[in-house]
Amino acid sequence: MPLVGNWAYPTAVRFGAGRIGELADAVKATGMARPLLVTDTGLAQTPMLKRALEALAGAGVPVSVFAEVRPNPIAANITAGLSALSDGGHDGVIAFGGGSSLDAGKVVAFMAGQRRPLWDFEDVADWWTRAEPSGILPILAVPTTAGTGSEVGRAGVITDEETRSKKVIFHPLMLPRIAICDAELTIGMPPATTAGTGMDALAHCLEAYCGSAYHPLADGIALEGIRLVKDNLARAYRDGTDVSARANMMAAAVMGATAFQKALGAIHALSHPVGALYDTHHGLTNAVFMPYVLVFNRAAIDDKIARLAAYLGLEPSFDAFLGWVLALRAELGIPPTLANLGVDDRQFDRMSEMAPLDPTAGGNPLPLDRKNCRRLYEKAYSGSLT
Ligand SMILES: NC(=O)c1ccc[n+]([C@@H]2O[C@H](COP(=O)([O-])OP(=O)(O)OC[C@H]3O[C@@H](n4cnc5c(N)ncnc54)[C@H](O)[C@@H]3O)[C@@H](O)[C@H]2O)c1
Ligand SMILES: [Fe+2]
Repeated sequence: MPLVGNWAYPTAVRFGAGRIGELADAVKATGMARPLLVTDTGLAQTPMLKRALEALAGAGVPVSVFAEVRPNPIAANITAGLSALSDGGHDGVIAFGGGSSLDAGKVVAFMAGQRRPLWDFEDVADWWTRAEPSGILPILAVPTTAGTGSEVGRAGVITDEETRSKKVIFHPLMLPRIAICDAELTIGMPPATTAGTGMDALAHCLEAYCGSAYHPLADGIALEGIRLVKDNLARAYRDGTDVSARANMMAAAVMGATAFQKALGAIHALSHPVGALYDTHHGLTNAVFMPYVLVFNRAAIDDKIARLAAYLGLEPSFDAFLGWVLALRAELGIPPTLANLGVDDRQFDRMSEMAPLDPTAGGNPLPLDRKNCRRLYEKAYSGSLT
């Protein structure tokens, strides 16, 4: 393998409990004078958002709120956000919330200065070069979940309702300039959301680590991210007020998205069609697929996973790691099969066409095609790990 790669880890992260208090300062540091705060409907009414708005008002920062983002955001949310942006004469975006709000906020800031339609910027080949970079507004990200890592990522995932598919919109300048990672904002997450989002962070680290590209920086970050998940996710799930577990999960989320610049893989490729067609939670869906994909990839990742198991203090073998994943899933109350997730088998043909075309499919250590994706859907449906 040639020892060649493009590496870029540039987001300034203000990490620590209580650092939401720096919001106004961070807004000024990004150069915004009139930000639009983009969030989802559920978070719009929370005391933490009210406090953030009061702090901005106190510091003399004029801000409006756009809260029409739904989980698994759709293109209509972006269109409405762009109207709010131009109506208010805003010059930047505070993306505040889980991955859905962060992605929607980032894509609104990106689209503010584009003439082409949204889907022209899907993460396909070099389509991002179609964008007009000078039109992209600055972005400040404030995550309230610990999973997607969108706060340090260059993409936004938006569902195309016409084709019923999740599309990744990508541009290097969609990267937030500053992320405020304050674990206290994640304390209100219910246990099921803690579990699903935490498993997304694990899926990011794991798929990045298993990818075959040459990226030793990403490999190191992914390894430590997985250790943080092992030591902290069940703790945060059991006791949502455990700020140190919450903080370590927030770090793992940042690390997952930093590492997956290297690669994602079949977990995400299989999960995206399910999320688009059944509107399931992204991280939860990934968690269902994780063991089936590990077994499918085994021939390509056996040695790597044994090294990972050793780092985690497990017996250094593939089986020990797989056993840990299965036990963690059970402890977090994650459905073991697609059937348990409420997904039927009627759309397997359609999903098996979609999965190998997903932009994450190419990073899988073994090639994905319609046939093996269908087999994976069937195994995940029936619960077969052989
Ligand atoms: N950009 C990326 O690189 C990337 C990576 C992975 C996933 N994603 C996308 O991110 C989305 C999923 O994001 P998510 O998993 O963070 O979930 P989410 O943003 O959809 O939020 C899930 C639910 O949790 C609620 N919530 C968020 N923070 C909360 C808090 N602190 N307290 C109480 N409730 C809270 C929200 O209101 C929402 O109802 C999907 O659309 C997925 O495709 C993007
Ligand atoms: Fe993900």
